[in-house]
Amino acid sequence: MLIAGNWKMNLDMPAARHLAGSIRNSLEDPRPVEVVLCPAYAYLDAVYGLVHGSVVSVGAQNMHAQDAGAFTGEISASMLRSVGCSHVILGHSERRQYFGETDASVREKVAQAVLFGLVPIVCVGESLVERDAGQAERVVAGQVRGALKGVAYPGKGRLVVAYEPVWAIGTGRTASPDEAQAMHAHIRSELAGLFSTGDAAHIDILYGGSMKPENADDLLSQPDIDGGLIGGASLQADPFLAIVRAAMRAG
Ligand code: 13P
Repeated sequence: MLIAGNWKMNLDMPAARHLAGSIRNSLEDPRPVEVVLCPAYAYLDAVYGLVHGSVVSVGAQNMHAQDAGAFTGEISASMLRSVGCSHVILGHSERRQYFGETDASVREKVAQAVLFGLVPIVCVGESLVERDAGQAERVVAGQVRGALKGVAYPGKGRLVVAYEPVWAIGTGRTASPDEAQAMHAHIRSELAGLFSTGDAAHIDILYGGSMKPENADDLLSQPDIDGGLIGGASLQADPFLAIVRAAMRAG
């Protein structure tokens, strides 16, 4: 089980430090759940300093596919490694929607992340129009293939996929546990086709989209839901920790 908090473009430095410290202090013992915090770039180093040595690790929300050069405003995999990141979210629907990211650009980034030893959290998910048109499975399968085809399987625990239906992000509307489970099983079968059935079994598939303490138990107890990518509910320690505890129960 893996619970990741995507803080998006929220919080200032004192609030980021306070949140990371509170989460870290509540999770001191070794736990069967991996916890990853993904703050804005400016806070990565500070958050890493606070959680380093605990069960909490740090991820970025995006990165560039090149390692260095004239790319004003961008950040590379090796830079993220140098400030303590172990994970990076790639292809989030907000990146696809507002910043023109495509399956092809996501794939380049995934390959680069793997090369530099970062665990990519590859986001996929259909829009409401696509779901209503009965296209959700086709769209998501295409995104999975588009982002991962030709990428060498990086090993157990070294690749994560997040299913985030766009219509459930920040809307308060969650996929039902059955809807989410059906899509996760579909994603796993696509992963089995790209890698192998055994490898696909070891890829954590997270659900994201209005996950909160009230629905976390039902979602996380589904057989193909291996954790959550949490937006709004990750911005305060209590709801986020409640979701982590739900993941412990779901084991
Ligand atoms: P919410 O949990 O706010 O719906 O956001 C989900 C998300 O986009 C996480 O990456």
